[in-house]
Amino acid sequence: MEYSPDYVEFLKMFPECSQTTSLDKLRSSDYARLDRDGHIYLDYTGAGLFAESQVEKHHQLLSSNTFGNPHSSNPTSLASTELVESSRLAILRFFNASPEEYVVIFTGNASGALKLVGESYPFAKGGHYLLTFDNHNSVNGIREYALAHEAEVTYIPMVLPEMSIDESKLGASLNQAKPGQPNLFAYPAQSNFSGRQHSLEWIELAHARDWDVLLDVAAFAPTNTLDLGRWKADFVPISFYKMFGYPTGIGALIARRQALAKLHRPWFAGGTITVASVQGEKHYMADAPSAFEDGTINFLSIPAVKIGLNYIEAIGLEKIHIRVRALTGWLLQELPKIKHKNGKPVLKIYGPLQIDHHGGTIALNFVDAQDNVIDHSYIEARANQVHISLRTGCFCNPGAGEIALGISSGELQSCFTRPSHEAHLSYNEFRLCIDGKASGAVRISVGIASNFSDIEHFINFAKSLTQ
Ligand SMILES: Cc1ncc(COP(=O)(O)O)c(C=O)c1O
Repeated sequence: MEYSPDYVEFLKMFPECSQTTSLDKLRSSDYARLDRDGHIYLDYTGAGLFAESQVEKHHQLLSSNTFGNPHSSNPTSLASTELVESSRLAILRFFNASPEEYVVIFTGNASGALKLVGESYPFAKGGHYLLTFDNHNSVNGIREYALAHEAEVTYIPMVLPEMSIDESKLGASLNQAKPGQPNLFAYPAQSNFSGRQHSLEWIELAHARDWDVLLDVAAFAPTNTLDLGRWKADFVPISFYKMFGYPTGIGALIARRQALAKLHRPWFAGGTITVASVQGEKHYMADAPSAFEDGTINFLSIPAVKIGLNYIEAIGLEKIHIRVRALTGWLLQELPKIKHKNGKPVLKIYGPLQIDHHGGTIALNFVDAQDNVIDHSYIEARANQVHISLRTGCFCNPGAGEIALGISSGELQSCFTRPSHEAHLSYNEFRLCIDGKASGAVRISVGIASNFSDIEHFINFAKSLTQ
């Protein structure tokens, strides 16, 4: 890593970052492909990056053993079962969740975990689905199950410019739960839009008012410690590729047994039952986790989750957290300083500008010298030219996007109720509807292999767009 004057300043501001030099060593070994190919990777909230050694270990495991379908007692089947079960335990250990209290259900990704909750939660008339504006679409989508079962659906709004949740409204909404009814409250520990971190104290607050709590940690878990021994959320969806890049296609629902007992699966499948009969027209569900894992689980990739967790544990998640916090803090300090020749800022940053309550994700838009938002697809095209991988759009978080970009419910209603938009609306038609407004933003995010040079590249890129 080069030591620019800014880097010296950076270390003065974040002296704890000097404890993270082992990450630079890994960057040049396990992530050597980044610098070899000139990539500036700034999309860790899209997908984490895997270390080469993770893949080598997994390959070695597969090539030196024979693994069969786990649903049997033959030796190759048992070998798979053993690895799958030890991966479950590794996940529980990583999140300090006691096996007596929590169970790990393997899914394809965080969305798969959320769908399991949505389709199985006993939503009913008198029940309630309460969620924050700030949520990924896979959490928003659960509202369709709630509405289909006549449960009430309520969104808690966000407050600008911090993109925080109005705690008085949160308290009032939590008070609306009818005791004894199915009440589910869902929010993200960290916004995948703005990087804003929401309080884990809300879990207890909600429990005390008779809510089950779904805590989406997909964006939080890669760089923050989640202690389920302390923060006892009921349903915790996760995607492992976001934590350590590999494998893709494996997620989990980490569920509190007590809350899981309330779920009713709407169907059964191979692996989810103890007995199913055709002539007897009856089936008996297996215990969790089997009851929630349809068909054959991805038994060859699941062991790679344990390898990934071991990898993170060997580095220390706290070290990754310190690095990500420092890089994000520097960006939050430096980006607002970039100005056009007329003194107007080049960037409009959404969410808090202080590092407290901020994860390693920043959402922003570039604006011209007259304060007009520059289309995010143009920014992406320009970033592509200098090998910066960033993400643009609304990041599947429309609630946060609408608030950040100032798109009102009136504008959305008038767009969605046009006869031509009844059944179909393309993204371009939507842009025309909200004419003159930005329809999305630019998101940069840092992670395990990020270094100061990466963020310097982004700062220089932003400077290159001054007018
Ligand atoms: C906060 C959050 N929740 C849920 C998801 C869904 O994850 P996946 O696409 O892996 O299912 C994402 C993905 O970006 C996310 O950021």
